[in-house]
Amino acid sequence: MFNLIFDSSSKKRKEDFLVENIYFIKKDENKKASIETNEFVLKNISKQTLAKLNRCETEFREQTSGNLNETNHFVILPKKVNQDYFRNYFAGYVKQKSLASDKLVIRIPELKIFGEYFNSLEYMVQTMIEGLFYGYYSFDKYKSEKSVNKNLYVEFLGLDSQQLKKIVTKTSTLMNAINFTRDLQNEPGNVLFPQSLAESIKQRFTNTKVKVTVFNDAELKKRKMNGLLSVGQGSINKPRMIILHYKPAQKAVKKIALVGKGITFDTGGISIKPADRMWEMKGDMSGAAVVAGIVEVAAKSKLNIEILGVISAAENMPSSTAYKPGDIIKASNGKTIEIDNTDAEGRVALSDALVYASSQSPDVIIDFATLTGACVVALGEFVAGLFSNNDMLSEQLYSSGQRTFDRVWRLPIWDDYNSLNHSDFADVKNCGPRWGGAISAAKFLENFVNPNIPWVHLDIAGPSSPYKFNNYTSPYFTGFGVRLIYDFLESLN
Ligand code: BES
Ligand code: MG
Ligand code: ZN
Repeated sequence: MFNLIFDSSSKKRKEDFLVENIYFIKKDENKKASIETNEFVLKNISKQTLAKLNRCETEFREQTSGNLNETNHFVILPKKVNQDYFRNYFAGYVKQKSLASDKLVIRIPELKIFGEYFNSLEYMVQTMIEGLFYGYYSFDKYKSEKSVNKNLYVEFLGLDSQQLKKIVTKTSTLMNAINFTRDLQNEPGNVLFPQSLAESIKQRFTNTKVKVTVFNDAELKKRKMNGLLSVGQGSINKPRMIILHYKPAQKAVKKIALVGKGITFDTGGISIKPADRMWEMKGDMSGAAVVAGIVEVAAKSKLNIEILGVISAAENMPSSTAYKPGDIIKASNGKTIEIDNTDAEGRVALSDALVYASSQSPDVIIDFATLTGACVVALGEFVAGLFSNNDMLSEQLYSSGQRTFDRVWRLPIWDDYNSLNHSDFADVKNCGPRWGGAISAAKFLENFVNPNIPWVHLDIAGPSSPYKFNNYTSPYFTGFGVRLIYDFLESLN
């Protein structure tokens, strides 16, 4: 745990405080630290320091002349600064510093000069604060030794206090939601199963503007939701559908349905998975966790958008009651599914959630699913596959991805791929051949979406799981998708 304490001016502090002034320095073509990029600091530093800066490649620290407890920390920006640079930098910074003093002040003196990298100063500061939150995240509730509560004082000198307050409020709401998402993802399968997932979500939204309804197995039977029921029938932990509903006080500008895959553990079922890294399948409910996180941040920031969250929660287990290859199932829209591989369970469980979401006539449906390894093979770990029946919506999400660095890349769902899910026994088969595995999964889902509703399917199998490309996506599950969709919703608001 940690406390971040923000200020827009530099406070007088007791002597035992350690102060670090962080100066981001840009170099010109000739590798000279250029004066106009950081007027404040370059006017105030010595010739020796400037010479060092010109030689230095990445960063260095030096004590200030006045105060023993104060250091200047010079960080040379890389040639290309992207939208993730500061988020990543501060996440790494905090991780390094997490064992140090409880009385650390970091001071970020001048900000306006970085306008060339970001459209708005506010968003740049937001990414810095996000980085600080990310750096402090840990999932240590099951460790006997927990990290201690520390204070970190952060001074942004380039902002006025109102401006800073607004950014801090917004960013902490977002990051608390992301941390909630991540906590759910990291929870092990023996603790988190469909009913306990439903309870965690219910508890989180008590006394809020979000209504949570849970369909138990009897209710699922009544509603003929046999896709979800079949996937869960091998486990004593019965499946649940979890519905979240946020309705703003005024008339909403849009109604958005968010659908999440909530497989609380995916063994593969009868088509069982190999043992290697199977533990990661505790995070196969990432889609569900992302939906819950987005609903939270949208409701807390009082977005003027109605949001319907629909989560299909089940545990995919092999047992004498488990569904089997060859089984034929009728989903709640009447379509029949032949099971070819019980490990392609996500799409089967999502069928009924997509039918339900469609029946509520939203303006847009977005589903989130750790659906296929094939998508990770195609795009790598850090990006989600985007599939859609709507070009405009795809482009909007693409640009939200570029802005937030929760990035997505579109893959096709042309009808040429329909034959991949052809079944001789039923309307559709749950698994295609090896090639185009992420696409045939998306094409399967398409069968359960009302074609008149703009729909996006995000295959988040890659970026949900821990990976090591940067300072904040390992060792824990990442919360990918919350930042992305919050940005998208804000743009509609
Ligand atoms: N949950 C997995 C997909 C997955 C893989 C998520 C890696 C996160 C990391 C999904 O249920 C699955 O098992 N998919 C199969 C589909 C196959 C049987 C057609 C896969 O990708 O191998
Ligand atoms: Mg599976
Ligand atoms: Zn799965």
